Amino acid sequence: MKTESSRQEYYIDKCRKLLEDKERELGRKLTYYDQTFGCQMNFKDSEKLNGILEAIGYVRSKSEEADFVYYNTCTVRENANIRVYGRLGTLKTYKKKNPDMLIAMCGCMMQEPEEQEKVKNTFTFVDIVFGTHNIFKLAQLLYEALITRKRVFDVWEGTDEIVEDLPSHRKISFKAAVNIMYGCNNFCTYCIVPYVRGRERSRKPEDIVGEVEQLAREGVKEIMLLGQNVNSYGKTLENRTTFAQLLSMVGKVDGIERIRFMTSHPKDLSDDLIKVMASSSKICRHIHLPLQSGSSRLLQKMNRHYTREQYMELVRKLRVAMPDIAITTDIIVGFPGETEEDFQETLEVVQETAYDSAFTFLYSKRSGTPAASMEDQVPDDVAHERFDRLLKVVGETARKQNKKHEGETALVLAEEVNERDSSLITGRLSNNNVVHFKADPCVIGRIVPVVLEEACGFYYLGRLASDG
Ligand code: SAH
Ligand code: SF4
Ligand code: F3S
Repeated sequence: MKTESSRQEYYIDKCRKLLEDKERELGRKLTYYDQTFGCQMNFKDSEKLNGILEAIGYVRSKSEEADFVYYNTCTVRENANIRVYGRLGTLKTYKKKNPDMLIAMCGCMMQEPEEQEKVKNTFTFVDIVFGTHNIFKLAQLLYEALITRKRVFDVWEGTDEIVEDLPSHRKISFKAAVNIMYGCNNFCTYCIVPYVRGRERSRKPEDIVGEVEQLAREGVKEIMLLGQNVNSYGKTLENRTTFAQLLSMVGKVDGIERIRFMTSHPKDLSDDLIKVMASSSKICRHIHLPLQSGSSRLLQKMNRHYTREQYMELVRKLRVAMPDIAITTDIIVGFPGETEEDFQETLEVVQETAYDSAFTFLYSKRSGTPAASMEDQVPDDVAHERFDRLLKVVGETARKQNKKHEGETALVLAEEVNERDSSLITGRLSNNNVVHFKADPCVIGRIVPVVLEEACGFYYLGRLASDG
């Protein structure tokens, strides 16, 4: 909505003026810092929040001792919440030293009424609280806090609105994430995301393509299309467009060399999508296809809408169409009622699929979700023991897949100087595997041929095939 983005620009201007006064008074620039937890959705939201903060005049600080600090929170598993509150305490000491410091909390945890209450009553040094539906309002909320000097709480239960055209700030200049849809309608019985991210809403294809074209003009080479379930893209649009069609449209944008997407729900991965992927040289040879469990009985209890057999059929089709595709997944261990037999089925699917990697999670009870009140919750020690066994098998399949490409020459997008060894550059293959290789930092941002000399389990050591 154009009017909403203009309204927010007005508040960005107002905040900028207040900040300029403060800069003069202090004789320095004001700084901001973000602490982002959770998934790529949250990291993308933080890019937007950072874009707004920079438009206002804040400059990024390397430390949490900044003038404006926000925590963008995740609540998908309980340990995510514990980490947030654990860190929050340190901010209080910084605020004592700098009483003008502003602290904000946002993201998925703040969508839960009990967490809001906790912040309201226990963490009284937090100034601004907002949720996942109104991140575009940051400048307005900040203005209110600066003017009134009172705490500002504004969390929406849901929204139909998609606010376009607000600033955004990327950390890597040549890689960008693009939201194609928001929310989730799947209600997997263990998952809190549909409650904290609201109903599924797709952006219009022309808005998405327009953004990708703009990113290409800014020098972006790789884009990641984001949605909780990209395969159901377009269902809420007036002019229905499928995800396969959207991918073809995005594939036509000149300058974009690599296209990735996250996440694909197995229940509606279409043959058309496989066809579009296989026929495109830009779409990366990687699919993240969350399995959750290998037992059809549990998949039904999870409300996933596919069976073990249907999942394996998809894997087969993907591998026939793209023999070099890397398949990665998410798996939950210890879902209520999981028996040793169910777990064995998960291990079998992991071995049959031969994942390139897998995120494995211990089931975490989320209040308000159907699974939280299911009988037969699995005892912790049993779940932990299964988790360790699963990790071993996943490690084995990943190493096996990794070994397959040893000795090959492959194209790598050079991304950054290696953190531990500055003579190495770290980059990624089309299949998302990481490669470290000796090269001059001037290759960063370019796609270069690299010989994959040594497969090291989850990454490769390589060397430039030519001078790149
Ligand atoms: N929309 C994505 C997943 C988003 S959440 C999809 O459907 O694939 C990321 C992962 O967290 C999920 O795939 C699941 O494996 C895990 N997860 C979600 N809720 C969980 C819970 N209550 N306990 C443990 N893991 C959970
Ligand atoms: Fe959660 Fe399922 Fe939606 Fe993924 S598809 S976000 S696991 S409810
Ligand atoms: Fe966490 Fe919210 Fe993502 S709960 S996993 S940050 S959508």
